[in-house]
Amino acid sequence: GFVAKVMTRGATLVQLHTPDKDGKSGDVILGFDSVAGYESEDNQYFGCTTGRVCNRIAKGKFTLDGKEYTLAVNNEPNHLHGGVERSLDKVVWKAKSYKNDKGSGVRLTYTSPDGDEGYPGNLSVTVSYFVPKDATRLGIHYKATTDKSTPVNLTNHAYFNLSGPGSDTVLNHVLRINADKYTPVDDTLIPTGKIESVEGTDLDFRKPVRIGKRIEKFTDTAALGYDHNYVLNAAPKGKDYRFAAMLFDKKSGRRLRITTTEPGIQFYSGNFLKGQKGKGDKPFPHRSAVCLETQHFPDSVNQENFPSTILKPGDTYKSSTILGFSLDEKK
Ligand code: BGC
Repeated sequence: GFVAKVMTRGATLVQLHTPDKDGKSGDVILGFDSVAGYESEDNQYFGCTTGRVCNRIAKGKFTLDGKEYTLAVNNEPNHLHGGVERSLDKVVWKAKSYKNDKGSGVRLTYTSPDGDEGYPGNLSVTVSYFVPKDATRLGIHYKATTDKSTPVNLTNHAYFNLSGPGSDTVLNHVLRINADKYTPVDDTLIPTGKIESVEGTDLDFRKPVRIGKRIEKFTDTAALGYDHNYVLNAAPKGKDYRFAAMLFDKKSGRRLRITTTEPGIQFYSGNFLKGQKGKGDKPFPHRSAVCLETQHFPDSVNQENFPSTILKPGDTYKSSTILGFSLDEKK
């Protein structure tokens, strides 16, 4: 009952089916039934591979090795999710399915030419989606190499609604985020550079909290709800993966557990969803899905005290995230 479907446009995860508490398998991510939907203005990065640099870069500018680079300003006054026409979510990747004794997957590759969307270097990217045998788990593994120093920050932009796309809001989903700290932002959603504690704030998700419980506190902000980068607590000693977040939906009984090699996660509560019609002709209203985007922190290329996103020639960018599904044990 566990199925992941991927398309070559944007190396996009288009469907993700997993069983609910009655044993019925169903899709848990937003998207469209046709490529035309993904090409339309209604597509808000549904399920795509986001890059070359996901999230925001202040004013679409950065300086690297003494040279200033200018990127598209597509989210006034900033650059968002890699640009406009040739960002990784909009181009067609090559795909090859594979099988080994551990499971099966699909490997997508794309080479973004030097100067594409203003970024330096020929960047070769690989994204592998992998489903182990007999497991309700999807691994997403990224690799990239370049011939010029360049910023890279890749994530998957799946919108989850564990009751299924086109269901009610996610305000009754319960969320836990394994982060003591977050990166506060200005009113254009660019980090101030500070790293602050979630303690005593409405951003504290260290214990499971219903998403709707405190969201109204953020309604009158630029983000219209949750749209925050959390600084994930470190992985256990000697381990590559850290526990990032847990999302639980009582209605379907589905639980999503995310682990990652990344230092941060953007929690976005679907505040800009506008009721557009998607899969099965169902509308996707405001806050009817949640994105949990594992990544390096926003605007890292302009922030000296954040972990670096610069990939150098000869080095390999590597990043992995596991989406693990289970059912509520307590029932
Ligand atoms: C960002 C939101 C943005 C959305 C676009 C998220 O990753 O954090 O601010 O509106 O992507 O779909």
